[in-house]
Amino acid sequence: MKKIITILFALTLLVASCGAPPPTKKVPAEFKTGQTNFHKVCSNCHGPDAMSPGNFKAPRLIDEDYLPENFSDDDIRETINKGTDKMPPQKGKFNASEVNQIIKYLRYSQSAAELIPDHAIDIDEEDEI
Ligand code: HEC
Repeated sequence: MKKIITILFALTLLVASCGAPPPTKKVPAEFKTGQTNFHKVCSNCHGPDAMSPGNFKAPRLIDEDYLPENFSDDDIRETINKGTDKMPPQKGKFNASEVNQIIKYLRYSQSAAELIPDHAIDIDEEDEI
């Protein structure tokens, strides 16, 4: 019996250390699938909630640089499928609708973080005291 418990304990540790980091934030039900899939693969490098620091210096995606006006849905899709110099392609890990759900989840997280794109911050310098 003791042996079985030891083995079970070792297995639990192994599983816990191999998985990608889980999310820390709750999201509305419609974004849950995207969140789950993101945290099966992407969070390994992009960190929990896409906030980095994960591995391989992968950037934080909940960032102005990745808002739709700076990095479109198609740009994200292409990054996932083809990778970049530094990011290995993730093609084949998800089908097209799963990729869409990951993008929806990322967009939701960006808006929940209330990121403001650079050009939306319109300061009228003449009115400054
Ligand atoms: C093995 C690590 C790794 C995994 C897994 C990974 N990425 Fe990346 N990702 C990176 C790195 C490293 C970069 C920075 C690439 C660069 O600067 O060229 C990056 C960059 C990106 C970018 C920005 C690209 C750019 O040109 O600025 C997006 C968007 C992105 N990843 C999305 C994802 C999504 C979504 C997933 C899951 C489907 C994912 N990544 C999985 C490592 C990873």
